[in-house]
Amino acid sequence: DTYVVIMAGGVGTRFWPFSRTSYPKQFHDVLGTGKSLLQQTVERFEGICPYENIYIVTSHEYKNLVKQQLPALGHDQLLLEPHRRNTAPCVAYASYKIATQNPNANIIVAPADHIILKEELFRDTIRIALAATRQEDILVTLGIQPSRPDTGYGYIQYIPDKRTVKKVKTFTEKPQLEMAIQFLESGDFVWNAGIFVWNAQAIRQAVKKHLPEIAEIFEEGAHTFFTDQETPFIHKAYSHCGSISIDNGIMEKADNVHVVLSDFGWSDLGTWKSLYEISTRDENDNVVEGKVVLQNTNNCIIKTPSDKLVVINGLEGFIVAEYDGVLLICRKDEEQKVKELVSEAKHLD
Ligand code: GDD
Ligand code: MG
Repeated sequence: DTYVVIMAGGVGTRFWPFSRTSYPKQFHDVLGTGKSLLQQTVERFEGICPYENIYIVTSHEYKNLVKQQLPALGHDQLLLEPHRRNTAPCVAYASYKIATQNPNANIIVAPADHIILKEELFRDTIRIALAATRQEDILVTLGIQPSRPDTGYGYIQYIPDKRTVKKVKTFTEKPQLEMAIQFLESGDFVWNAGIFVWNAQAIRQAVKKHLPEIAEIFEEGAHTFFTDQETPFIHKAYSHCGSISIDNGIMEKADNVHVVLSDFGWSDLGTWKSLYEISTRDENDNVVEGKVVLQNTNNCIIKTPSDKLVVINGLEGFIVAEYDGVLLICRKDEEQKVKELVSEAKHLD
């Protein structure tokens, strides 16, 4: 009765130019393992649920990319979105669809672009969460010990008792820096890993309560799932759906959120800085990939095509990244500005 929903429709602009609208980071082999982040995500759930219970939700633009990377995926396992509406509609679509097939399903929702180093520990954590959602209609998320006041994550304040599935007091999605610093200092906050576990009943109740318009749309169309009416229905549904994340739309508001704390070597890989954090560095603290000669250069990320010789002298704290004809040179601590620039100037993407 366990299902996995992989959210794979984001564009990952903070990882530009490596991640682009036409080929976002989840489809890249970021770590050079021979497998894309999406393929690694699917494999991670081996042993948790049968392959045919894994659903991928993505933009219709990436249909062929997903099919190429996951050739064994069945027709009904690929949910295509005609518009980008962030993660709440994505979760609602998949949950309502799964519920029509199995109203007692337990559902794991996972992003397609995360790195998890300790996979066995990850699966153990998931099993703990599943044991809880089989008993109760609650929303469970996984919590990671924070290491810096990063404003790119959700922050979870939990009741620090001895239980493994802890009750959540507050959920704050992407706080301002000042607040993130306070959260970190207070000690009873963890990062939201963005991986959720719940049963079909609990998530539908939560959508109904906190996003009633979205619930109404999918309830009305539920009879079209697994029929040839599904695609026309989804086209209509998505043109009526607002754009909102599951974190802002539900997790911040719900009062039945729980968290399982874990440390499975998690990284969102959302930004160049996060790639830097998890990569092996040379003796001058550089992360280097490509045919690169460095002189007097420290604390940089350099990722350039293997057929291009790159020579750098005297660079400190920079990102030098080239991918598919686009070269980025930017201060490592100002990569956020690149995201703003790229999102404003569409021709850059
Ligand atoms: N299908 C679909 N459709 N997927 C989407 C869409 C969409 O419109 N938008 C985003 N996604 C996918 C992304 O590809 C990614 O795998 C996942 O949903 C999460 O989206 P992000 O855009 O990466 O979210 P985030 O990193 O800013 O924030 C979330 O993750 C953090 C941890 O990595 C939140 O859950 C935070 O609270 C959390 O800390
Ligand atoms: Mg992310």
